Amino acid sequence: MSQADDHATGYSATKRDFIYYATAGAGAVAAGAAVWPLVNQMNPSADVLALASIRVDVSVVDPGTQITVLWQGKPVFIRNRTEEEIAEARAVDVSSLPDQDAGNDNLPAGTPATDENRALNEEGNWLVQMGVCTHLGCVPLGDGAGDFGGWFCPCHGSHYDTSGRIRKGPAPANLPVPVASFIDEFTLQLG
Ligand code: FES
Repeated sequence: MSQADDHATGYSATKRDFIYYATAGAGAVAAGAAVWPLVNQMNPSADVLALASIRVDVSVVDPGTQITVLWQGKPVFIRNRTEEEIAEARAVDVSSLPDQDAGNDNLPAGTPATDENRALNEEGNWLVQMGVCTHLGCVPLGDGAGDFGGWFCPCHGSHYDTSGRIRKGPAPANLPVPVASFIDEFTLQLG
């Protein structure tokens, strides 16, 4: 099985957030076992490494929709934002934000929380972030939920904007952006 076969495929994006795509990690482990049996025997950390990063086929995620994948036991929101969502996020003055740190693991700590510093690509349509409320860890609702058109955590009323930045409520920080990159146009690697 080639690495390309590891890609997470076979799901369809819906308006609902909760598509936990757990088989991506399992597929990566199975591929490693099939192709590199000696590596697996000699290096016990091989399966751990496989789980440390997964690849997701995002070609089915239309603009204005998102999917949620499960990575390292946590939900990750992958959203293909519309022009309007991007424009709204980029019009915000960073100095007005409760948390002014981008919270992006792909950039140095302390990087300002502009939308450009949170989006995964230059065009800004791909926003990838942990689906875990920074208050007490609930999974926020998406698809324009909340007062700022992004995500809303109903547990205690935290509102995140279209860039996943906390705007109102008890959550202290923006939704974290994990280490992520595009392998090709529609293959996203987490980790
Ligand atoms: S856990 Fe999200 S607001 Fe409390």
